[in-house]
Formats: sequence, C-alpha cells, structure tokens
Amino acid sequence: MHLGLFLLAAGHHAAGWRFPGAESGTENFELIARIAREAEAAKFDMVFFGDRLVTSKDAHPSMITRPDPLVVLSALAVQTSRIGLAATASTTYSDPFTLARSLASVDLLSKGRAAWNIVTTVQDGSGNFSRTLHPESSERYAIAEEFVQLVKGLWRSWDADPYVRDKEGGVYIDTDKLHELNHAGYYFQVKGPLNVTRSRQGEPVLIQAGSSGPGQRLGARHGEVIFTAQQDLAAAQEFYGELKRQVGEAGRDPSQVKVMPGLMPIVGRTAAEARDKLALLQSFTDQSKAHHMLSVELDFDLSGADLDAPVPDLPLGDGGFSRRKLLLKIAKEQRLTLRELYHHVASSRGHQVFAGTAEQIADHMQHWVNQGAADGFNIMPAYFPSGFEEFTREVVPILQERGQFRRDYTGQTLREHLGLAQSA
Ligand SMILES: Cc1cc2nc3c(=O)[nH]c(=O)nc-3n(C[C@H](O)[C@H](O)[C@H](O)COP(=O)(O)O)c2cc1C
Repeated sequence: MHLGLFLLAAGHHAAGWRFPGAESGTENFELIARIAREAEAAKFDMVFFGDRLVTSKDAHPSMITRPDPLVVLSALAVQTSRIGLAATASTTYSDPFTLARSLASVDLLSKGRAAWNIVTTVQDGSGNFSRTLHPESSERYAIAEEFVQLVKGLWRSWDADPYVRDKEGGVYIDTDKLHELNHAGYYFQVKGPLNVTRSRQGEPVLIQAGSSGPGQRLGARHGEVIFTAQQDLAAAQEFYGELKRQVGEAGRDPSQVKVMPGLMPIVGRTAAEARDKLALLQSFTDQSKAHHMLSVELDFDLSGADLDAPVPDLPLGDGGFSRRKLLLKIAKEQRLTLRELYHHVASSRGHQVFAGTAEQIADHMQHWVNQGAADGFNIMPAYFPSGFEEFTREVVPILQERGQFRRDYTGQTLREHLGLAQSA
C-alpha cells in the first residue's frame, strides 16, 4: 500500500496542539523538517501540504497561519532525499505559467519528487486577489480543466536531456528539443514555452482531491493520486470502483491512479486507551470556534445557529460541495446536533478517525486495501510528533511484517515510489 503524511503543523485535530507533549507551529520549520524526516525514515511515499488562501481569527490552529507550501517544499527538498513532496495549489487563484514554473522548479531541485494537489478552492478567495468574483463550482472545474491541460503542455516544453554542453562546438543546449505551446483557450492565453527543463521523473505527479461529479471527472482525466474523505468501507468501495471506472472511460489505465483516503489513527496500547486519548482531545476542543468552523467546512453561513439543535437540512448546491454532502450524511445517519457534528469537524473534517491498537489499525488498513476501497492512505495525525511517531514506529512495522508496505525505497522519484509510469 502507499502512504502519505498529510502534514498540518499544529495537528489535524483542532485541539491537537493542546495534547500533553504535543509540539506545534506552522512557523517552525525545524519541527516541520523533523516530521518530514520521520516520514522518510518510515519510507512513506510522500509528505503532503494542504493550502487555503484566506484566514480568519477563528480558523483551525493549523490553518490560521501557514507559509506558502511550495516554498516549504523547496526547503524540504534539501532536508530530505527520497520522500515525495506534495503541495496544494489552486487553479482558481493561480496563474498557470507561474505555477507550472514553480512546480517544475521544485521537481528539479528535489530530483523528481514533487507533486501538485490540484484544487479549485471552495472558499471564496476573491478578497485577496484581483479576481472580483468567486466562480461557482462548475465554472471552477471548467477553469481547472483548461488550467491543468495548459500546465501539462508547459511541462512538456522540453524533451528529456536537451543539454549538450559541447564546449568545442559551442552548443550549450539542443533547441530542437524545445516546443512552442501557443495555448489560446477560453480562460487562458499562454504562449510558452516554459524555461524549466524536465526532472528525473519527467514532471510532477498530479493529485486531485475533489469528490463532486466534476471533481471526479477532473481526477479521472488527470489525477495520478486521488485524495478523498471516506467514512465507511461500503462508501469507500463505491467511490473507488466508480473512480477507477471513470479512469478507464477516460482511456487511462486504472492501475496508474492511486486512491488514498484520509485516515486519522489514534494509537493506544489497548483499544480503551486509544478511545481515552480521543476523548481527551475532544475535551480540549474550543467551543467558541464551532460556528465558524462549521460554516467553513459546510460552506454555509451558520453564524447564530443553535448548536444543540439537530443539524438542519442544508441545500447541496450546484453539484459541488461534496464535503458538505459527506458531513450532512454523517449527521443524518448518526442523528447529530450541530455541536456533535462540530466535534467531527474539529477532529478530522469528515475524514475517518480510527482509535485502536497498532494491530487493529494495521488490520483495518489492510482490510480496506484488500476489499478494493483504497490503494493506500493519507495519514492525518491528530497531533505531532508523538501522534505520528506512534504510527510510524508501531503500525508501520506491522504492515511491513505482513508484506503490506515497503521496508525500504526501491526507487528515487515519487513516480517510482507510487509505481507510476514516467510521464509522457
Ligand atoms: C485529503 C484532502 C485534502 C484537501 N486539501 C485541500 C486543500 O489543501 N485546499 C483546498 O482548497 N481544498 C482541499 N481539499 C478539498 C477538495 O479540493 C475539494 O474542494 C473538496 O473535497 C470538495 O470537492 P468538490 O470541490 O469536488 O465538491 C482537500 C480534500 C481532501 C480529500
């Protein structure tokens, strides 16, 4: 199976930073580098950084401040040597040439370890950018489709190995290996070519994380890794099957697309100890942030709502809002109040939380992979570093023992770790 570390430097649980012994700090690069090296020592495929483009005083502690993930990746590229390095960047609020260039640069300087998590950005970021309006979900995905095609085109500006460096002949680079792009589309006009050559893995790995219909279609056409939030085996199997079917329909090989649901493991020496840890985390959760965090995750203004009333029926929107749909499904199935749903959101934002012994967690992961629900997991520790170290030092060895996870890297690039073919 494949493993990614979803690194939020104050923990994934909104109260994770308060856990006894926890260290936290998005501003603390030493800590971030230490955690990334721990993931590398455990032979993880990659370490992944999310991103949002707006902040507010009530935001999740791991999200209220955060340096630009691509800049963090460049620093990690020299602090690590094998682990893949993935960053989120928005197709709604970025410029394709600039982003293609930054990603290609990180891919080069990390020797072929970069990945891009393509997001369309649910939260309105227009206040911080020249864009005057936040596009609707369907338009965001139309922009994303053109954006991704354009970025791929730019990445293919140069054929492999164009450098000649013939001192006597006076030929530095073979410009026959350079291709114009001249993209003139609906949203973007970009002449190209890109002034960055290919990395050891060709080009960055593409990750896609949208679960709505248009999100899945974008993933099926371009995604090589698919992140998703899944609560139960049946729903995860359905998503996995449907996504792989769409990949086939798009003319691609389904085995070349890795589906990795998020998983928050809470490791205990006994199941009861793990449950106690989760309860302790929940007891630290700041109730004053509930309205804001629910409004952000449900993408619906809930300020002033009664937290002890049942979760109201909210509209599902214009075909997007898959996270809202997932959270509302959890609320309905478990008959939750808004406050109870807030505890779900504060712990893992709709991702699966599994509290148990290392053995139980390994069994659970193995079961999902064997039952066609996942190709691996995006691990979301509730807090750092011990909440992660318990996973790498107790769960990973069990997976290795069972032949479910590598004992060492066999390749150099992220594409090799993931078993993906070299890009076109
Ligand atoms: C593991 C994971 C990580 C994500 N990270 C980000 C992120 O960093 N920034 C972001 O704007 N959206 C992120 N998303 C949200 C998705 O891009 C997407 O907007 C969301 O799942 C809703 O899907 P939809 O837009 O297709 O409705 C993430 C989703 C998942 C499952």
